[in-house]
This record gives sequence, C-alpha cells and structure tokens, in this order.
Amino acid sequence: IQEEALAKVEEASDLKELQAIKVSFLGKKGSLTQVLRGMGKLSPEERPVVGEIANQVREAITNAIETKNTVLENAALEEKLQSESIDVTLPGRPVKVGGPHLLTKVIEEIEDLFIGMGYEVREGPEVETDYFNFEALNLPKDHPARDMQDSFYITNELLLRTHTSPVQARTMQEYKGEKGFKMICPGRVYRRDTDDATHSHQFTQIEGLYVDKDVKMSDLKGVLNVFAKKMFGEDRKIRLRPSFFPFTEPSVEMDISCKVCDGKGCSVCKGTGWIEILGAGMVHPNVLEMAGYDPNVYSGFAFGMGPERIAMLKYGVNDIRQFYLNDSRFLKQFHQA
Ligand code: PHE
Repeated sequence: IQEEALAKVEEASDLKELQAIKVSFLGKKGSLTQVLRGMGKLSPEERPVVGEIANQVREAITNAIETKNTVLENAALEEKLQSESIDVTLPGRPVKVGGPHLLTKVIEEIEDLFIGMGYEVREGPEVETDYFNFEALNLPKDHPARDMQDSFYITNELLLRTHTSPVQARTMQEYKGEKGFKMICPGRVYRRDTDDATHSHQFTQIEGLYVDKDVKMSDLKGVLNVFAKKMFGEDRKIRLRPSFFPFTEPSVEMDISCKVCDGKGCSVCKGTGWIEILGAGMVHPNVLEMAGYDPNVYSGFAFGMGPERIAMLKYGVNDIRQFYLNDSRFLKQFHQA
C-alpha cells in the first residue's frame, strides 16, 4: 500500500488529484483505513505488530501528501502570478470624462448673472398645492386664465406646478411682509402639452422676483436689459410688449432683437427680427396682499423665463426634445462651450 500510495502522490499533477489520492488511501473507505478496520479479526499477538506497521504507513503517506501539497500550491501560485501579470509599459486607455448638461450650464450662467445683481437663489416643490400654483397668484378657482396652463392634477388640491411663480408667493410669505428682497428660482415645471420641436410636457423655468418699497417698471426694464445683453451680446436690444398674466399688472412680454452683426455682416432671424424670451410685470397688488405685503407700502416686479428657449437661441438648438434625449452626440458638443 505504501509503495503504491507514494508513487501516486509523486505523479499527482494538481491539487485536485492529490486530494483524490488522499481520500482513496486515508479516507473513510480508503485502503489503509480498511486494513485498520480489519484489525479486530487479528489475534492479540498480531495486533500490535500490524498496528505499528499501519501507523508507520499512514505517517509516511501523510508526510508525502503534505510535501507534495506544498509543491503543487507553490506551482499554482506561480502560474497565477504569470497569467495575471500586468505589462506596465503598455499605454493607458483614456478615461472618458463627462460634462455638465447644456441646460445646467445655461441655468448656472443665468444664476451667476443674477447673483451678481444681488439676487438669492431659491427653490420650491415640484408637487405644488392648488393654492400656491394658482390662488395665491390671483387665479381663483374657475378663473378662465387657468386654461392658459393645462395642468397635471394629482388630487383636487395637488398638482405638478405649471410654472415657478408659486415660489413668488412662498418667498413673500417667508419674509412675512416685513422687508424687501430679490430672488430667482430655477426649477422644473409641467404642462399637459403634446411634445414636439417647441413643446415639452416638462421643461424648466427661472422665476425672478424683486419686492421692496418703491420698485418701479423702469427697474424691471433696466434689469432685463442687462440680462439680455450679458446673455446674448452687447449688440442686442430688448422691447417690452403689453401682455396679460393674472399675477402681474401691468404685464409684459419681452422680445430681444435677433439681428446680429459681426465683422462678416448681419444675420436676421425669421419674421420680424424680434424673438420673445420671457414674461414679466409688476406684482399684482392682490398677490402682494395675499402673501402679507401691504401694496400701499411695497411694490415689486417679477419675471419668468424658459432656459430651454434661451439655450436654443444662444446655441442654435432647433428641437427642445434634444435636451431630454440624453444623446451623447448632442450633449458632447457643448462640453467645451
Ligand atoms: N409664470 C408665467 C408663465 O409661466 C411667466 C411669468 C412669471 C410672467 C412672472 C410674469 C411674471 O408663463
């Protein structure tokens, strides 16, 4: 048995084979174990002699297996090191770096511009109450102007906000009618629109609000003029057209000139040479009053613009859906811009 076992151990070429050999000799049903089991049948004189031999054999086999085990383990480790070795002289693969989304960049650019003029940046909830989205903005229930913004209602009292204007009312309430402030609020808004090149059921807006004693329409025009020139270039002009929003009086829409001249000549956008970029107006006295401001002491202006529209104009994007498709071929173009 010993000879047979030692020969087999010597020949074993991997750890699995060695384990099998161990079992076949020393295991429960192994041949040496069988011999030891058969000891009971021997005479009392034979027993110690056979026992001693059997123990010597077991020791010899065990030692041989252990030695071989170490050898095989080292060989396996060596092979693993070989196969997993890294060639440090190979050139590295470039890591692909992402960049901010065009819309994020435009929103941050607008934020920076207004922060520079003393505005704080605020946020409000996207799931809004009927009260803040409409009522506090002078749009009572059943007011026909609610039709201007088709809404996604969640319950009778909750909806996805249709504009960022509710943050006007929320901010005024926080300041408790006691002091003036300037804020802008970027965020997502939702409308029941059919998506096409110029409409999306969700898009972003940036609201602006300045409340203080003695805020005038000319202040609004001045701020918007600075905004348009900084955003689109010093050669741009703005014009305010009369409009209607229930929460501002008077209300205006602002156009910027889209005739742009450079060294090579002038290019004019389609139609009139003007393009609408935002709605604005003087905060309606009812809105001030509902939010706790005395309209005889305080006045304010508000505006709301669409960053998608501004990005489309500034960067020549012709389909609003590009902002939401996450097509890296589109997004990558603006990583450097
Ligand atoms: N909330 C208006 C809209 O979504 C825009 C607006 C904001 C108009 C503030 C006037 C003042 O169309």
